Amino acid sequence: MDYLQIKRVDSLNGNIKISGAKNASLPLIAMTILAKNSVHIKNLPHVADINTLLKLLSNLGAKCDFQEDRVVVDTSALAQTKATYDIVKTMRASILVLGPILARFGHCEVSLPGGCAIGQRPVDLHLKALEQMGAKINIEAGYIQATAPDGLKGCHINFDKITVTGTANIVMAASLASGNTTLTNVAREPEVVQLCEILNASGVKIEGIGTSVLTVHGTNGKLIDIEEFSVIPDRIEAGTYLCAGAISRSELTLTHVDASHLDAVLAKLEEMGSTFTITKDTITIHPSEVIKPVKIVTQEYPAFPTDMQAQFLALATQANGTSIIEERLFENRFMHVSELQRMGANISLNGSVATINGGTQLSGTDVMATDLRASSALVLAGLVANGTTDVHRIYHLDRGYDALEKKLEAVGANVKRLKE
Ligand code: EPZ
Repeated sequence: MDYLQIKRVDSLNGNIKISGAKNASLPLIAMTILAKNSVHIKNLPHVADINTLLKLLSNLGAKCDFQEDRVVVDTSALAQTKATYDIVKTMRASILVLGPILARFGHCEVSLPGGCAIGQRPVDLHLKALEQMGAKINIEAGYIQATAPDGLKGCHINFDKITVTGTANIVMAASLASGNTTLTNVAREPEVVQLCEILNASGVKIEGIGTSVLTVHGTNGKLIDIEEFSVIPDRIEAGTYLCAGAISRSELTLTHVDASHLDAVLAKLEEMGSTFTITKDTITIHPSEVIKPVKIVTQEYPAFPTDMQAQFLALATQANGTSIIEERLFENRFMHVSELQRMGANISLNGSVATINGGTQLSGTDVMATDLRASSALVLAGLVANGTTDVHRIYHLDRGYDALEKKLEAVGANVKRLKE
């Protein structure tokens, strides 16, 4: 197993190229199930979750050719409709194949994703919506068995809670349904917006893109033609490197990034003292010597993202005062706290609220990554900790960060990937 060894350096400097967004790529790859042509996707990140989804599609009979940052996916020979436990257990986002496979074949089985480190994460809203569209759902022996022999039917669906993959799944299902599906209280994340834009450009008329009400005009079972497209930049990867600049008081320029997806993150970094120079596709962070404390509540887009909570918590340990961070999306997304405490951070946890008394000098030690974003928080802490920080179990990090240690090394960090 690999681990990362980080030694403090005085400061970082240079450019970091942001990769394509993992959380945009996953639904976009699942979307190829709706296509009658071979779909060319550019700007994919090299992260484990992408390989997992391509493997799942290959197991079902699709042809996937992934070279550099491009993939060609041909689902014309896709014949299997069962996503088995061995793959789903490694990546919950495998549930994204349920909507498109059911819509195309009239039946699909997906292993029920269990809970994960950050919370229970049920998929009840995906299933309820599919039932409203006429599907019969049966849960048996750990599998979701969905059938819709007469096809899915357009209807009105209100999501009780805003769900990102739930919205993506049902938009894809509705794309091949008969009639119109109106979805209310949908996720507005840029990753969902891109999925809708590509579908809309491929002959599935979708109204309300970017708002919380979508109307999807289904094709009544007709597969669609999807032209080549490029995945949007990863806003969470970008936010993580902005935190690297802020915590190490270093000027860094991110390239291939879209600042308009980062409003809430940039606003909080500004409150903490950083300033920015922003162009069409770059962001330069000018950090401040003094990091100010902050109050953060995680919410759905366009509010502050839960996927940046851990990184800001690491940053808050270096602020000159007390920060309060409340996690509203996931019930157990504070596992990085105990690891940061082992590095000397002064944090108290009360339910979903963390109080961080900043200004402590962190000390390097052995720490354990517990989930994807928690891992990057430990790396950020390692950048400013005295001595050596060894971050173990970085397979979590490899699920979602493309070449993190190489990108950090290129701007002067002392980060090495080593074997246990
Ligand atoms: C997506 O997960 C992201 N994953 C997550 O990123 C991200 O943290 C999350 O959205 C929130 O922004 C992908 O895009 C692949 P949700 P998702 O359904 O879609 C509850 C990362 O680090 N809920 O929006 O699974 C759920 O339990 C990952 O890259 C239900 O109750 O999240 C949670 O409390 C981690 N029933 C809330 O809604 C449902 O049927 C939001 O979850 C579905 C969700």
